[in-house]
Amino acid sequence: MTALALKNLKKRFASTDVIRGVDLAIDDGEFVVFVGPSGCGKSTLLRMISGLEDITSGELYIGDRLVNDVQAARRGVAMVFQSYALYPHLTVRDNMGFGLKVRKVPAAERERRVNEAAATLKLDALLHRYPRELSGGQRQRVAIGRAIVGNPEVFLFDEPLSNLDAELRVHMRSEIAALHNRLKTTMIYVTHDQIEAMTLADKIVVLRDGLVEQVGSPRELYERPGNLFVAQFIGSPKMNVLPAQAATHLSPAAQVPSSAESVGIRPEHLSVTGPSEVGLRGKVTLNEYTGAVTLTHIQSSDAQPILALDDGREVTRLGSDVCLTAEAGNLHYFDKQGLRVAADAA
Ligand SMILES: Nc1ncnc2c1ncn2[C@@H]1O[C@H](COP(=O)(O)OP(=O)(O)OP(=O)(O)O)[C@@H](O)[C@H]1O
Ligand SMILES: [Mg+2]
Repeated sequence: MTALALKNLKKRFASTDVIRGVDLAIDDGEFVVFVGPSGCGKSTLLRMISGLEDITSGELYIGDRLVNDVQAARRGVAMVFQSYALYPHLTVRDNMGFGLKVRKVPAAERERRVNEAAATLKLDALLHRYPRELSGGQRQRVAIGRAIVGNPEVFLFDEPLSNLDAELRVHMRSEIAALHNRLKTTMIYVTHDQIEAMTLADKIVVLRDGLVEQVGSPRELYERPGNLFVAQFIGSPKMNVLPAQAATHLSPAAQVPSSAESVGIRPEHLSVTGPSEVGLRGKVTLNEYTGAVTLTHIQSSDAQPILALDDGREVTRLGSDVCLTAEAGNLHYFDKQGLRVAADAA
């Protein structure tokens, strides 16, 4: 069943078109992640779904209900913000129950739902505390708990983990994944974090300038990006893009499509060896050792900057001459418009 449908959705602020016609169908129980450069409209789109922002044109369905003109509280969605927005003068219990109280849910029912959410989020022992007495991760869990008690059809998360330190982020990321597995509620999640997007999503929506560039599973976007923008947006460090003729140097077996203008190769798919007969030639200009891998910056013989990931062996010393090779299957081809073109069958 479709949980959510966006049909040619648009948003205009004064004279600026911020969302310029978004079509999207989200299935019941799906975990959908919105990514895209800062300012592309992720938060605006989320706020339009939640009802915090009105819709300039187009249609928004939640289930089979057209909700364009339905007020936020009646849409069956709950939003979790980056700034947890907890009430400082209320305990965890009262923060979580506040929305229910406003909606005049009877005290016993409120109590039951808060206790249930607290158990799910392991907040049982903290119900009497005030937000100032909690860690960042605990506060974020209270904010999620406040969303859970309303028993929404759809959860909306706007960068919920970006205020947390690296270790806590990783921890909360797995907690959110576990929560989704348990509740099986439809979730839409905005993040700048590649790993969060790739690990959490059933479906990633790549936005740019108020339009959808591509929708697909993390694997589809990584393995078959539909255009150069998505190719370079998904994956970190980002995909190298070279003139198409570099393909046969990288891989003698490459069947380069005649319409290919450029070839993309991910840093993790390049092999760096010492000078040899085969391969794209270059010189190492910088080595960034990070522990498990080294980011090797190379300038090709025709002055293209290329990034490779390797294990930091002897051959990649600064200034050394190297050869780059890749498997033909890891090359991505794009035409003049930047659209993906399939590799020619051999
Ligand atoms: N109330 C408003 N009035 C005018 N312009 C706005 C308003 N809110 C947002 N915008 C503009 O709309 C565009 C999209 O903003 P939005 O907050 O949705 O971006 P975002 O993708 O969430 O970015 P970020 O990743 O930085 O959070 C931006 O150019 C922003 O300046
Ligand atoms: Mg935002």
